[in-house]
Amino acid sequence: MKTIVITGASSGIGKATAKYFANQGWQVAATMRNPAQETELTALKNVKLFQLDVTDSQSIAKAYEAIRMEYRTVDVLLNNAGYALFGPLELSTEDQIRRAYDTLLLGTTLVTRQFIPMLRENGGGSIISLSSVGGVLTLPLTPTYHAAKFAVEGLMEGLSYELYPFNIACKLIEPGGVQTDFWGRSLDMTKGVVDSPYGQNAANYLAQMTVPASENRVQSEMVAQVIYQAATDGKRKWRYTVAAADFIKYRRSMSDEEWIDTMMKNYMGEGQSTNKQ
Ligand SMILES: NC(=O)c1ccc[n+]([C@@H]2O[C@H](COP(=O)([O-])OP(=O)(O)OC[C@H]3O[C@@H](n4cnc5c(N)ncnc54)[C@H](OP(=O)(O)O)[C@@H]3O)[C@@H](O)[C@H]2O)c1
Repeated sequence: MKTIVITGASSGIGKATAKYFANQGWQVAATMRNPAQETELTALKNVKLFQLDVTDSQSIAKAYEAIRMEYRTVDVLLNNAGYALFGPLELSTEDQIRRAYDTLLLGTTLVTRQFIPMLRENGGGSIISLSSVGGVLTLPLTPTYHAAKFAVEGLMEGLSYELYPFNIACKLIEPGGVQTDFWGRSLDMTKGVVDSPYGQNAANYLAQMTVPASENRVQSEMVAQVIYQAATDGKRKWRYTVAAADFIKYRRSMSDEEWIDTMMKNYMGEGQSTNKQ
């Protein structure tokens, strides 16, 4: 029986993936910050819960030991836990910025480092990390999210060299909008935007983007299926997009400057240009 370890399995893509792999007959180590609150996954016989906060090294080490005791080796690590900060950097608090990087980047890095031995001793496997369409292209007002997801892309690609000899593949999942709690509890907003010098442009942007973006979200089960494909296809393929291929193609059809100008029209309104400097 194969084994997957998932971070942030209490909701959204993490939970859907835990259920999907369990239904395919895998053993699932579903890790989360508060396992005592979980009721749905506890009903599945090949799913076990472990406490793991990706921002807490002690919790990572403890979860690793418990999972090692339970399963001895692991086939797939899924770095899924996430947090996003929306708003101008100038109005972001240090706590919000640290939380974004600690959860998305440092958490992914430390969890990955911790689980490499179990994958090596397994004779190979995959480290699959949730990036995003936001790890490939940028949108206004989420600079720390893009910074972290671009870095996760670099981490996985850079790591692939040293793990290739051990038959461990490093793969990235790049979803567009997915219908999860991410847009509620995992999305933090900077305070005071409305009355700030950023207020008008932020309002323009939200008016342009929010409705079409929310209408186009796909279900988390679709992402779980693609994660399963990435874990099992045996292909030398690093990046898997989900409901984002057209958006990424559109981005790649233009220069960096043309992309920024296109986005600026949404942010600042028609007739605005970035060619001021
Ligand atoms: N939804 C989208 O449109 C979308 C698009 C592209 C990429 N993604 C990526 O997909 C991943 C999963 O997001 P989602 O959409 O499934 O959102 P979600 O339902 O809000 O899930 C986020 C998960 O991360 C967990 N988490 C947050 N901080 C954590 C920490 N310090 N330690 C451990 N777990 C932590 C949350 O656990 P708690 O229950 O403890 O809060 C929750 O289970 C994220 O990496 C996100 O960037 C999402």
